Amino acid sequence: MDSLLIKGGVPLRGEVTISGAKNAVLPIMAATLLTREPCVIHNVPDLSDVRFMAQILSWLGAEVRLHKATARIQAKKIKGAGDYDLIRKMRGSICIMGPLLGRLHKATVSLPGGCVIGARPINLHLKGFQALGAKIVIASGYVQASAKRLTGSAVFLGGRAGSTVLGTANVMMAAVLAQGVTVIESAACEPEVVDLVKFLNAMGAKITGAGSPTVTITGVDQLHGAEHEVIPDRIEAATYAIAAAATNGEVTLRGARPEHMHAVLDKLHDAGVKVEREGASLKVSRNGRLKPVDITTLPYSGFPTDAQAQMMALMALTPGISIITERIFESRFMHVSELTRLGADIEIEGPSAIVKGGKPLSGAPVMASDLRASAALVIAGLAARGTTQVNRVYHLDRGYENIDGKLRQLGARVERVEES
Ligand code: EPZ
Repeated sequence: MDSLLIKGGVPLRGEVTISGAKNAVLPIMAATLLTREPCVIHNVPDLSDVRFMAQILSWLGAEVRLHKATARIQAKKIKGAGDYDLIRKMRGSICIMGPLLGRLHKATVSLPGGCVIGARPINLHLKGFQALGAKIVIASGYVQASAKRLTGSAVFLGGRAGSTVLGTANVMMAAVLAQGVTVIESAACEPEVVDLVKFLNAMGAKITGAGSPTVTITGVDQLHGAEHEVIPDRIEAATYAIAAAATNGEVTLRGARPEHMHAVLDKLHDAGVKVEREGASLKVSRNGRLKPVDITTLPYSGFPTDAQAQMMALMALTPGISIITERIFESRFMHVSELTRLGADIEIEGPSAIVKGGKPLSGAPVMASDLRASAALVIAGLAARGTTQVNRVYHLDRGYENIDGKLRQLGARVERVEES
């Protein structure tokens, strides 16, 4: 397993291009199953999660060609069932269920396992499918949804932590070909859901209300092929912005969309970070001393859970006390123990982490555990004195395109070490 060797203490300087959004492209790739016609998707990031999704779609019978940042996909004939262990490896692939149910009226997938950040249930996805008339059977690790026909209906998708992003995507994709009108209440409002709706409507779907808690889908007979450009990844942009602040550098994020990042930019401002708009880019640097901030993660447009770990790394460097509360996932503090190994002073109190920041961090070998926790360790390593070795870098490669190359471009001393 590869690791990243980071020699810290170098302020990041220069420009970095933000890639297409992982959490938009995965459901959009799944949505191509809803038509037998060819679809073309641009600004596709080169990520292992994208390659996984491509494998699953090919496994299902679709023709998939990934070339540079474009995906050409045509699902002429597809299977609705089967044993694809890949689902277990990638939570995001659960979003093939909605389109399979929508197109074939049946879908069988292996139950997605939990992961380090939480149990990751799919009860709300299944509640939505049942509201459309599907029968759900869970047996020997598989979940099967089937329906004679799908009929539009009203469904409330609010769960214990607010709405569900992939649940909203799945139910929308099952409803686009249903008979009649479906109204989703407490729909997720994330920009990635809005981007999926833009693609579905380009395919001929009739969806309104995207980006609001009430989404209305009027069923149509069939969908046609479409071409689409994926939005930039707001979490990748947040990650590089935080890395710029952590290293006291100055970084221009090419292609970042500030309108998708209000909560992050607001907290960075309070933390003493300057963010200036430069055309279609954002320039990030410190604005004097860093200041401690309190953060609570919330559904969009609140502070994103996917940027929580990265902000914690920044707060570990910031003199003072910051309280970071995770309200979306039940155990998304895997990075705390590893940050502590670098010298951070962090205590967990229930859903909150109390960060007593300001002591300089010193490099050490650390273990990546999930995608964003790994990003937090990279940020801390970039700011720490000495060398930090981040192991199990495959976690990073799931969601960050060419992260070591992009960091080197910004002057970081980062080397990818292939484990023999
Ligand atoms: C998406 O996961 C993202 N993944 C996650 O990003 C992101 O953290 C999450 O949304 C929240 O924003 C993709 O889009 C591929 P949820 P998703 O359903 O849709 C509970 C990353 O780092 N819940 O919105 O699976 C759930 O347990 C990844 O890029 C139910 O209770 O998340 C959680 O507490 C990590 N029942 C909360 O809702 C359900 O049926 C939010 O989960 C579904 C979810």
